[in-house]
Amino acid sequence: RIVRDFSSTIQETADFILSLWERPQNPLEHPRAHTIALAGGNTPLGLYLHLGNTHPELQAARRSDRDAENVQAFGPAVLYSHVFWGDERAVVIDSPRSNYAAAFHAMLKPLDFPSDQIHRIRAEERDLEAVAAGYEAEIHHVFARIWETQSRMANLLNPGEPLLPDPDRWERLDLVLLGLGEDGHIASLFPHAPALDEKQRWVVPAVQPGSGEKRVTLTLPFINRARNVVFLVSGKGKAGIVSKVFAAREPDKALPATLIRPDKGRVVWILDKAAAAGIPTSA
Ligand code: 6PG
Repeated sequence: RIVRDFSSTIQETADFILSLWERPQNPLEHPRAHTIALAGGNTPLGLYLHLGNTHPELQAARRSDRDAENVQAFGPAVLYSHVFWGDERAVVIDSPRSNYAAAFHAMLKPLDFPSDQIHRIRAEERDLEAVAAGYEAEIHHVFARIWETQSRMANLLNPGEPLLPDPDRWERLDLVLLGLGEDGHIASLFPHAPALDEKQRWVVPAVQPGSGEKRVTLTLPFINRARNVVFLVSGKGKAGIVSKVFAAREPDKALPATLIRPDKGRVVWILDKAAAAGIPTSA
């Protein structure tokens, strides 16, 4: 989806995110809590500020939440989702480099997002292997809670038709939001990095080449389980890498973005014209 400019990419991405939430067929049915992983870096900040402070539907929900007399709906289902991060830098929580802090201050705090639905990566801790394993366990736990809620609701609505705890169905993120690094990296999966070869674990430690900054990142096996992966890319500075990624005919470890191939999900690219300038017309 190629749109005019940066603010159009923000609008398009916000609309896409809010369009994701299933409208349950049966009005009695509790909309399933969704799970989204946020991107770090600068590009998505505009999106987080918009969702947190100016998106009309979300602002109306916040106002009605506050004004008990006229609570309309309980607001868009996105307010009931669980928020994760695609990666985090090994910095203290209030560092300007913290991906968690950026999204929290821009969006989650202004939306009074419930803290038990916010799952940050504790990358400020020393043992990043333990942090990665702990985060993976937390992800499993949230998936299990969501299945358990749906299973109880299904049992009320259709007794005798058990909702099977099928990991293949229930253990998938609904949305992974990704930026694109100028070297083609996504999350903290850098070109030719060992983390690209991880086949089992969902979360691993990583290192940013050059700076050596330690990171913790979701892995390809887990990102490729997502129902939706959205790339949000803006600006002429990204035109070169975007054209390389779109021209690639094969997955290429030199371009980690080309390794994003969800097994059952879809990939949506939302770019402004400047970032899309080099996309081969045959792409
Ligand atoms: C991070 C991000 C990283 C980012 C790209 C693009 O922690 O830095 O997860 O993958 O999305 O580097 O960053 P910009 O949006 O700042 O260009």
